[in-house]
Amino acid sequence: MSKEGLLRLPAHDLIDQSFGRHIGVKDVDAQRLAWLAAQVPEDGVVVEVGSFWGRSAGFMAAAMRPGVRMYCVDKWTNPVDLDRFQRNMAKLGLEQSVSPLQGDSVEVARGWEMDIDLLHIDATHTYAMVQADFQAWAHFVRPGGLIAFHDYGAHTWPAVKRFVDEVAALEFEKLGVHQLIWSGRKIL
Ligand SMILES: C[S@@+](CC[C@H](N)C(=O)[O-])C[C@H]1O[C@@H](n2cnc3c(N)ncnc32)[C@H](O)[C@@H]1O
Repeated sequence: MSKEGLLRLPAHDLIDQSFGRHIGVKDVDAQRLAWLAAQVPEDGVVVEVGSFWGRSAGFMAAAMRPGVRMYCVDKWTNPVDLDRFQRNMAKLGLEQSVSPLQGDSVEVARGWEMDIDLLHIDATHTYAMVQADFQAWAHFVRPGGLIAFHDYGAHTWPAVKRFVDEVAALEFEKLGVHQLIWSGRKIL
């Protein structure tokens, strides 16, 4: 059963099995990301910065409405990891709605042109890198669009919380914190 602001997908256990429970976002994080992705209007655009094997991407893509497209940005420095990402998407039948964009986040953003309805940032968690990802991508989020940061409040990555509190929360109205996901809505 889903709690308010969380969405537990029928495919949750299947995604757990396919993607490995210990890699990427945990249960409530996943349910929060799925809920956020389900808010994106038909034909909208979701971008994830930092996808690795696709666990968080899988939860979001499985929750998206028809016509929503998701773009996953990752360096995937080891080709084995991109291959695993693509196989995971195919296993869930999500490969038509999810496109990998391989490269450095800031470089990929230089060639980006579309408005974004939901942006999830989960790449390198130092202050400088979270800031670089935010500066590269957040201005593409349309007014009223959504943003999520993973590892907000994680003891191992204090910079994520510091950056969100100091900078992101000035441009995005806080919607809530669910496990390690901070989410907000772009101020109109
Ligand atoms: C924590 S993992 C992402 C986990 C994923 N969101 C999940 O829940 O399954 C971080 C990923 O960010 C990628 N990454 C780190 N810095 C990056 C950058 N500057 N540009 C692109 N990808 C980056 C890494 O290659 C890694 O796969």
